[in-house]
Parts: sequence; C-alpha cells; structure tokens
Amino acid sequence: MKFRLFVALASATLIAWAGPALAQQPIVIKFSHVVALDTPKGKAAEYFKKLAEERTKGRVKIEVYPNSQLYKDGEEMEALQLGSVHMLAPSVAKFGPLGVREFEVFDLPYIFDNFAELHKVTEGPVGAALFKKLESKGLVGLAFWDNGFKDFSANKALKGPGDVKGLKMRIQSSNVLEAEIRALGGIPQKMAFSEVYQALQTGVVDGTENPPSNFYTQKMFEVQKYLAMTEHGVIEYAVIVNKKFWDGLPPDIRSALESAMKDATKYANDIAKKENDDSLEAVKKSGKTQIIVPTAEEKAAWKKALVPVHREQESRIGKDIIEAVYKETGFKP
Ligand code: LMR
Repeated sequence: MKFRLFVALASATLIAWAGPALAQQPIVIKFSHVVALDTPKGKAAEYFKKLAEERTKGRVKIEVYPNSQLYKDGEEMEALQLGSVHMLAPSVAKFGPLGVREFEVFDLPYIFDNFAELHKVTEGPVGAALFKKLESKGLVGLAFWDNGFKDFSANKALKGPGDVKGLKMRIQSSNVLEAEIRALGGIPQKMAFSEVYQALQTGVVDGTENPPSNFYTQKMFEVQKYLAMTEHGVIEYAVIVNKKFWDGLPPDIRSALESAMKDATKYANDIAKKENDDSLEAVKKSGKTQIIVPTAEEKAAWKKALVPVHREQESRIGKDIIEAVYKETGFKP
C-alpha cells in the first residue's frame, strides 16, 4: 500500500515537473529533398524554414534534409505517407507511382515556352485541380515551386533529335519521359536522382536531362561533354505534406506556416531563372562541358520529333487535362 502510494506520488510529481517542459517542445517538421542547398529548391527550403520558425516564434522547428540525405527518390513518398517525414518538394514527374498520373502533363515536351505560361497552370484552376487529387492519397499540396527548363546532355554532341538514337538516357520516374526518350530512339532508364552522377561516370547511362542548376550542383559537367540547350521541358516541384499531420496542427500554427509558404514560393519562383542562368555560366567556366545552342531550324526539329508524345500519352494523362493546359498556355499541337 505504502509502496503504491509512493509510486502514485512520484508519477504525479514527474508529470507536474515534465508537463510544462513537454508542452514547450516545438513541433518538428522534417522536410526532405534530393537536391543541393545551392539550387532554387535548396534555397527556398531554407528560406521557408527561416520564415516558418520566425512566424511561429519557436513553436515549430523545421529540419531540412537536402541532397537525399534522409530519403532518396522512391523512398521519400512512402515515408511521407507513413508520416516518417512531414514535408517534401518532389518534381511533379515523380507523382505517377503514387497513382496521380495527371501530374505528368508537366512532362509533355515543349508544352511550356516560358515561366509565364507555366504559372498560368500552377497558379490557376488546373494547379488547384491537381492538388485536389492528392487528398485521396493522404497528401496536401501546398505550393508549386519552379526550377527551370531541361536540356539534354551526353558525351556525344547532340545537335538534333537523331543524335539521341541508341543512347541510354537517365530520366525521372515518369512514363511520359519514357515516351519522350523513345520518341528520339533512345533507351530510357528511370533512376533515383542521387545515383545519376555515378551512373554517368561509370557509363551505366550515356546521358540525361536536367536544368543547369541540377547539372552544375550535382557536378554532372565533370562527366558529360555536351549540354544541348533544348529547353524541351520543365522541372517543377510540388511542396506536399502528410494530410493527417497537417490537419492535426493547431490552426494558428497552420496559418503561420501557410503564410511562410506563400512568401517562400514567391522567393523560389523569383530566384529560379537567375539560379539556372548562373549555373549555366559556371558550367561554361568549368571548360568541361561544351554548350550547344540549337539554331531555330534545329529547335524546330527537336519539337517535331517530340510533340507527337502529347497525343500518344493522352490516354495516360487524360485528354481533358492536356486540353485545359493548352487553353492556359495557348499551345497549338
Ligand atoms: C531529378 O530527379 O532529376 C530531379 O527531379 C531532381 C530535383 O528534385 O530537381
């Protein structure tokens, strides 16, 4: 009896002592991504952390894990759904395996000519409709962040679409990108971003596609002799959170995080172009990769070879969504 009383008293004291301390524990949000710190996404994630921690006055702690430190492509989506990580910003080319193939509309070659056209989609009803589709997967889409326009690289001078023939090309996990490489006669290889440098170095793949910011910060210029400025597609990100976690946050915290996300999104999209321009300059300066700028005729040849992918992928992505994007961007097939 005496012993039980002692245990009860001791636990009560412990709770009284630990209670306030526990109440002051910050909410930890783990934000994982796969690129370097010195990229549009890397910088925007850090900026979001700064704003979010300031605006929640220390009640939230954002732990950013860049460069596939915590999870690689393929692992991170599952980790988010399981709640082992709370926030990601994957390229929308990686949403197919989740079962939301409509996001692959962004991968259709030459569907966007510039950032203004891209923003009509990400900031308009199409972007909102895409985010709605994430809810049934237990996710919430908070924002779209830009990276930039993709260029093809290889150890062979890529002057036109015929030059990709027979090359093993690393792509993200999108079936539309698979069709894109096939349309050029290349051999598509889906692969996690963290493995690309080594695969290029050892010849597991011959080439790849990425915006200059990724090409430079992943040091692909060390292992690729040519970068053709084809600008045939975009890398666009969706910042996503685990819905259960997000809905369970105190409302004042959630709205502070939303306001931090709004400002971080503006920042991301403001710096994206310059970050890519600077990276391209740095690649040129390295002297290791030769930059090929296609002439107007060469660009037309790339387009002619790649645009048929739109029609071919209609049944996968959905005709409605493709047409909704055409309507926003003015694209004429
Ligand atoms: C890639 O896998 O090439 C990109 O999606 C990486 C990234 O997040 O920019």
